[in-house]
This record gives sequence, structure tokens and C-alpha cells, in this order.
Amino acid sequence: MLIKFKKSFEKIAMGLLSFMPEEKKVKKLQETINEYETNEGWQLYLWKEEEVLGAIGVRMEGDQVIVQHISVNPSHRNQGIGKKMVQAVKEMYQDYDVTSNEFTKEFFEACKE
Ligand code: COA
Repeated sequence: MLIKFKKSFEKIAMGLLSFMPEEKKVKKLQETINEYETNEGWQLYLWKEEEVLGAIGVRMEGDQVIVQHISVNPSHRNQGIGKKMVQAVKEMYQDYDVTSNEFTKEFFEACKE
């Protein structure tokens, strides 16, 4: 299930976000997690089964909810977790236009198929 990020999950969240190609540099990753911790318009969610296995982060912009980060633990890929996270975000933000950005578009579009 999707749970809201909290500070106690910071390390695992950073580990997951670091799989995004544009988050490889530690400085950028720290700025990103800081935005999720401080900016109300940025929301990070974690996919938790027994353990945290994935992360999906959105930014609110008017009536748009932009999925800007999506990542699954490499040992748990191709089991549908990525798609479930996208679906859960769409359900959570039903009244909004949920969309992607340049970094998430490819997978986001694949989830529509
Ligand atoms: N673009 C398009 N499709 C992709 C993809 C990508 N970057 N990565 C995986 N897929 C496809 C797989 O080929 C598979 O297709 P199939 O069902 O036809 O076999 C399907 O998505 C797997 O879906 P699912 O199991 O729900 O995804 P996942 O849990 O493995 O997570 C990612 C997918 C992209 C989140 C995961 O590969 C990841 O964390 N990648 C590193 C981070 C990243 O690059 N994120 C941005 C992606 S645009």
C-alpha cells in the first residue's frame, strides 16, 4: 500500500530516488528530499509491503499533479509495483489531472497500456 513519506524513511527514500538517472548526484538528491520534506506542493509516497519497496513523488501545479519521481527496488521490479503506485496516485488525486514529466513519461505512458 501507498503511505506518506516521513522523516524516519529518509534513507530508504533517498536510496530509491537515487535510481532515477537525474538523481545520481548526492547534492541533487539531498535537494530533492529536502523539497519533499519542506515544500507543501511536493508529496512523496512509499510503497510498503513488509518492507518499503518503491517510491513515487508528485508536484502539485494548479489542477495538475505531476509525477516527477518513480522508482522500485531493483530486486522487486517487474512484479507490477510501479504500475500499482501510478494507479494509487491516480486514485488519490482523482479530481486532478495526473500527468508525468520528462523523467517519468516513458513508464507513466506504459502504465496506460
Ligand atoms: N519505460 C517504459 N516501460 C518500462 C520502463 C520504462 N522506463 N521500465 C519498465 N518498463 C516496463 C517493463 O518493461 C514492464 O513491461 P511489461 O509489463 O510489458 O513486461 C513493465 O514496465 C513493468 O511494470 P511494473 O512491474 O509495474 O514496473 P516496476 O515495478 O518494475 O517499476 C520502474 C518500473 C520504471 C519504476 C523501475 O524499473 C525503476 O525503478 N526504474 C529506475 C527508476 C527510473 O528510471 N524511473 C523513471 C522511469 S521513466
